[in-house]
Amino acid sequence: MAEKSKILVLGGTGYIGKFIVEASAKAGHPTFALIRESTVSHPEKSKLIQSFKTSGVTLLYGDLGDHESLVKAIKQVDVVISTLGGAQIINQVKLIAAIKEAGNIKRFLPSEFGLDVDRHHAVEPVTSFFGQKVKIRRETEAAGIPYTYISSNFFAGYFLPTLGQQNVTAPPRDKVVILGDGNVKGVYVTEEDIGTYTIKTVDDPRTLNKIVYFRPHGNVVTFNELVSLWENKIKSTLQKIYIPEDQLLKMIQESPFPVNLVLALGHSMLVKGDGTNFEIEPSFGVEVTELYPEVKSTSVDNYLNAFV
Ligand SMILES: NC(=O)c1ccc[n+]([C@@H]2O[C@H](COP(=O)([O-])OP(=O)(O)OC[C@H]3O[C@@H](n4cnc5c(N)ncnc54)[C@H](OP(=O)(O)O)[C@@H]3O)[C@@H](O)[C@H]2O)c1
Repeated sequence: MAEKSKILVLGGTGYIGKFIVEASAKAGHPTFALIRESTVSHPEKSKLIQSFKTSGVTLLYGDLGDHESLVKAIKQVDVVISTLGGAQIINQVKLIAAIKEAGNIKRFLPSEFGLDVDRHHAVEPVTSFFGQKVKIRRETEAAGIPYTYISSNFFAGYFLPTLGQQNVTAPPRDKVVILGDGNVKGVYVTEEDIGTYTIKTVDDPRTLNKIVYFRPHGNVVTFNELVSLWENKIKSTLQKIYIPEDQLLKMIQESPFPVNLVLALGHSMLVKGDGTNFEIEPSFGVEVTELYPEVKSTSVDNYLNAFV
């Protein structure tokens, strides 16, 4: 069997990044995390960094703004995965420049991990945010860097523990707000599964220069189905408050950031169905369960059990 690629993660101390680093180390890839020196003394992140070390991850110190540190780190690996956060999306042009200069990278996964930014019906402020990810896609392609774009849809851990309700910390037990009519299919994938699938793509020739979509059967549900799964678990019926699209659009326009962003993401996924409303054509995409049927992803139904 071919040797496993060496993987460098930028943003490994972030929300999704830690799952990617852990999955990489667990899958036996020599794993490197580019860490900012100032983060090492951060009270919570220092524990995470220690756990990386325990898992055999090699820590490299650097910063997206320090070109030399990037080139030096990139030269030691085969694959670069960026899990940089929202504020750093556009600054990944610096990473592309460093990958180009290093000249050795077999695969680059820019920070995506959401809806397909080339196929959506989102409104502002999401349109502008997705536009930054689109710009990074085009720059990557123009630079001739081999890539994979991970379209993992919604993080289960962001959405399911509250059923997407605002200003609560637990799933609702009396009433639930539903965007649109609740009959549009959304996709919710656990962060562990996103890590597992993402790492599988890096050495896979079938994912070269492709968008990898996540649509595991047990993770694709309408909001009404989600509520019904939850009602069955708590043996209670919730009052349902439906927000029609025109009202939702007005709320998005009138809400401050970041509430407008959260609502507009909900509009894109739950009202427009941007996670599932197109066919995945072999010319541009592949789907994880078809590629990796051996992975048993955690279904939405199972995930909700933890909150009863
Ligand atoms: N599908 C969904 O439901 C969903 C939800 C949320 C996010 N996302 C997407 O997932 C991706 C990652 O977002 P996230 O929320 O996981 O990110 P995050 O938690 O904000 O993490 C950001 C990471 O970037 C690092 N970083 C920031 N500035 C840096 C710099 N100058 N140099 C080097 N590293 C730097 C941070 O390091 P420090 O620890 O040093 O600060 C941290 O590790 C984004 O593309 C985002 O849009 C998707």
